Amino acid sequence: MAKAQREAERLRFEINRHNRLYYVEARPVISDFEFDKMLERLMEIEREHPGLATPDSPSQRVGGEITKVFPVVVHREPMLSLANTYSLGEVEEFCRRVEKLVEAEGGRQPEFVAELKFDGVAVSLLYRDGVLVRGATRGDGTRGDDITANLRTIPTVPLSIAMPGGPLFGTPVGEIEVRGEVFMRTEDFAKLNEARPEEDRFANPRNATAGTLKLQDSGEVARRKMSFVAYFLKGVDDGRTPHLLRLRQLESMGFMTGCNYRLCRDVEQIAAFIGEWSEKRWSLPYETDGVVLKLNDTTLWDRLGATAKSPRWAIAYKYPAQQAKTVLREVVFQVGRLGTITPVAGLEPVHLAGSTVSRSTLHNFDEIERLGVRIGDRVMIEKSGEVIPKVVGVVLDERPPGTRAIEVPDACPECGTPLVRAEGEVSFYCPDEEGCPARKRGRILHFASRNAMDIQNLGESLVAQLVDKGLVDDPGDLYRLEKCRIEGLERMGAKSASNLLDALAESRKRGYDRLLYALGIRHVGRATARELAHAYPSLGALRQAGEEALAAVPDIGPVVAASIREFFTRGWVDGMLAKLEAAGLPMQADGQKALVNGNFEGLSVIFTGGLERHDRQRASELVLERGGRVVTTVSKKTSLVVAGSEAGSKLDKARKLGIRVIDEAEFESML
Ligand code: IVH
Repeated sequence: MAKAQREAERLRFEINRHNRLYYVEARPVISDFEFDKMLERLMEIEREHPGLATPDSPSQRVGGEITKVFPVVVHREPMLSLANTYSLGEVEEFCRRVEKLVEAEGGRQPEFVAELKFDGVAVSLLYRDGVLVRGATRGDGTRGDDITANLRTIPTVPLSIAMPGGPLFGTPVGEIEVRGEVFMRTEDFAKLNEARPEEDRFANPRNATAGTLKLQDSGEVARRKMSFVAYFLKGVDDGRTPHLLRLRQLESMGFMTGCNYRLCRDVEQIAAFIGEWSEKRWSLPYETDGVVLKLNDTTLWDRLGATAKSPRWAIAYKYPAQQAKTVLREVVFQVGRLGTITPVAGLEPVHLAGSTVSRSTLHNFDEIERLGVRIGDRVMIEKSGEVIPKVVGVVLDERPPGTRAIEVPDACPECGTPLVRAEGEVSFYCPDEEGCPARKRGRILHFASRNAMDIQNLGESLVAQLVDKGLVDDPGDLYRLEKCRIEGLERMGAKSASNLLDALAESRKRGYDRLLYALGIRHVGRATARELAHAYPSLGALRQAGEEALAAVPDIGPVVAASIREFFTRGWVDGMLAKLEAAGLPMQADGQKALVNGNFEGLSVIFTGGLERHDRQRASELVLERGGRVVTTVSKKTSLVVAGSEAGSKLDKARKLGIRVIDEAEFESML
């Protein structure tokens, strides 16, 4: 037991250290694989000796706790909001006002800390004797929800803190409150959305964060990657440490602050900071929407006090939404996998918020009417958190002669079927689920997408040809394709045909839960598919399940249950499932081979050069049996290259891209 305890303590120390190096300092020194091994070992010890588990153990981050109702907490001090302004003039007024108040208090010329304003959700963290004991949402400012289990899963939320070099050296005693913002990095947001059904995507990272923090299953919270940035510390040396030093203290305790703050001595320096970040902020890996200015001298905070909603010692300057003027050249009508028609604007390319924009969504026909926009119009486009910019208005003063009305189609642009509009919905859709080529293409592309069956080399133009030539009507037909047929397609040859066949063969090995997601049932995303696979471990059982039974599965409500039921009543679905079954796709959970271990989970691996101990086929199987994927072309997404003797161009490319390269001996040890 004493030995296990020592090992657990050492592992916790090491895991916390590497966690910080990775997430806070962005300079990892070990591989993800080594990190996961340590975490796994720690969890094993804690399982064997439950007495050794601690509330601040990094194993707590994995989540899994289900909270039915979040208890209400009363904040020790109200969580105020900030007064907002969009003008530098008002920022100047704020400074003058503070100067006057400070002068009246007998203080000197005030200094301000300028920080970036993170676009996320405010939370409060309470540490007792250095250990995180409670995490809560802002709520109405006085009362919030206790979401500790969810916040624990965020890697940049320290589960315990110490203050090297701080005024108390070592573990702080008593209560410390840290406030900050939970947010989603742009890249993590994009990945999360990609794994969600088209119809259920989040509009922006902030909505995704707010939705995720309220989930009852902390295991799912852990899977959706979120981050935490700290901007407020109370309880260390109350009332004396200036705010700038508090930010540094937060950093030495292991919090992320973003580091992009600066002490400003006057309005000019503040204006310079605001100006500097107005464009630079687009290069950050997360979204910011303004600058927060705080009086550095915290002894004055209480004395200046607050209005009903916001403190007098701080203000938020918000950047105006990023807009650009351009010309609407054309409108095309896209037909989605579920038949929804989306008008997409083709624009004269224009620079906006760090990138060049030439397409933008017009959402739906009501929106076109509301905007009163015509082809040829000068339009304003805006980017505000959404990944795709949107048209927000027409510059009527500059309407040139000869603009044309946007013809709203009454039939599907792809198959000519009259469009329908469901009651209470804004979108029109093509009802020809089975025959519309756009819907077929969408279905097949979804089936092949990365989070679904991950069929490499099956891109848009190839799918278009396959559907066009009548070779493939639904995903089930993919597995009946013959090499000679594929070879005959445009831009395909013998090599690319056999690559596609290999990729298809490879995709047969994906699990049953991935197949459930790949089927493309409305409202069934990756997470829901996992729940379904768990509750109904065979497709036969799932097809029999009634609506009520389905609605009893965690995370599935009546709408999703109805959609699943409806899906299985379709004739074409029966046909597709029969083909998939005949092709050997997993129709049940236990039909998959159980993983030998998870050592390659999440890794995409390439073999290059000659291997001595295994043939290629066996080596690939070894990776698959351990949760990994085997790919054939080196790209930024490749995780690992196993280089055998006389490895050539793939190895060079991997080195250039900075991908980890290992030899056969190391591969063996990873197995
Ligand atoms: S300070 C009493 N600093 O903006 C002052 N807030 O509009 C507490 N926010 O509720 C807030 N970045 O959610 C502060 N660097 C930053 C911030 C920040 C984002 C959010 C926070 C706050 C809201 C106010």
